[in-house]
Amino acid sequence: MITFEGVTKQYPDGTVAVDDLNLTVPTGNTTVLVGSSGSGKTTALRMINRMVDPTGGRVTIDGQDVRGQDPPVLRRSIGYVIQQAGLFPHRTVADNIATVPRLLGWPRSRARTRAHELLELVGLEPEHARRYPHQLSGGQQQRVGVARALAADPPVLLMDEPFSAVDPVVRAGLQDELLRLQAELHKTIVFVTHDIDEAVKLGDSIAVLRPGGRLAQVATPERLLAEPADDFVESFVGYDRGVRRLSFFPARHLRLRTDVIVTADQTAQEAGTLARRLGEPWLLVVDSGRRPLGWVAAEALAATEGHRTLGTLDLVGYGHVFTVSTDSLRAALDAAVLSPAGRAVGVADDGTVRGAVAQTELGAAIWAVGGDDEPPAQDRAGGPSAAERAAARGGAHE
Ligand SMILES: Nc1ncnc2c1ncn2[C@@H]1O[C@H](COP(=O)(O)OP(=O)(O)O)[C@@H](O)[C@H]1O
Ligand SMILES: [Mg+2]
Repeated sequence: MITFEGVTKQYPDGTVAVDDLNLTVPTGNTTVLVGSSGSGKTTALRMINRMVDPTGGRVTIDGQDVRGQDPPVLRRSIGYVIQQAGLFPHRTVADNIATVPRLLGWPRSRARTRAHELLELVGLEPEHARRYPHQLSGGQQQRVGVARALAADPPVLLMDEPFSAVDPVVRAGLQDELLRLQAELHKTIVFVTHDIDEAVKLGDSIAVLRPGGRLAQVATPERLLAEPADDFVESFVGYDRGVRRLSFFPARHLRLRTDVIVTADQTAQEAGTLARRLGEPWLLVVDSGRRPLGWVAAEALAATEGHRTLGTLDLVGYGHVFTVSTDSLRAALDAAVLSPAGRAVGVADDGTVRGAVAQTELGAAIWAVGGDDEPPAQDRAGGPSAAERAAARGGAHE
């Protein structure tokens, strides 16, 4: 556990970067410090590994004031990842990763073996070991940065906007990787970002800093989105917090319709009769393996020769699907909003169709979630921590 106890940092020019910070960072969790530029995030982070010393209060790790520890020794027990990775340009990837193990006096062969293990852990190919940083993409460099920080297996990992400089797609991949790693490693991570979506995705707990380095609120992501402590936090988390909050509610309780499912070998006449009987404007066509093919409109059926099979018609794309067991109401809503039929297709883990849900029915489910209810702990989308949420989803999509 890391604690900030009344911690203040005033720089020599008089700037108060962090003002009377009281915060507990639990062991084995990811705590995110979020705030706009200049709100003291980096300063707070660096007081943990003594790159900056406080001018008031104290920082402890497992009860020990960090100021009682020699900075170089302390830093070898704390991984540190920064934007642009901060790799040594004239050392190979393997040598970069082995930096701390070598400083700790590990024999060269053991350090090299460890470097290769870590390359694999962060999802890089073995042949990257011999390359130099400039021969890697930005996203690959960040992976090496994470590998280097983890090399000596430190219990604490400090990450200062590590993914801010890469494009959004690569960033999402790196975030997923971090969640996957954390589900395995359970490090005590302090992660700094100015991006509230990144904070919500990665944090077990989020500390919002306001300008002047004052703590505005500490809460779980759900709580922060449901109950911002004041106007500042409310504006910081954004106007669409209600929609984003849906990511904490599972889609598995949705009532899915199966009566609107038809197969590709059924005729237009059969389907048209069904659509009329149900009073449904759209039917979902699946193949013989129950995989989705697309939507067919009742109107289109009425205008089609009755003997034609549905598989021979131009179907309306079903957009993207949601996985019933692991996805959230947000994913289901997104799928419904993007679907030309206004309906989302829910699939099982193997991709076969479980059923469909229309925007209006989804609206009722979202309404039932209510304004201030906390999702029951056992009922949150995927599990109790950010990492476990990701592990349950397979880490691949949000
Ligand atoms: N070495 C320094 N000397 C003087 N002021 C500094 C120094 N480092 C940071 N600051 C100031 O402290 C405040 C907080 O900076 P920082 O911790 O880097 O914020 P953040 O990481 O949230 O952007 C800013 O006003 C910044 O200009
Ligand atoms: Mg900073």
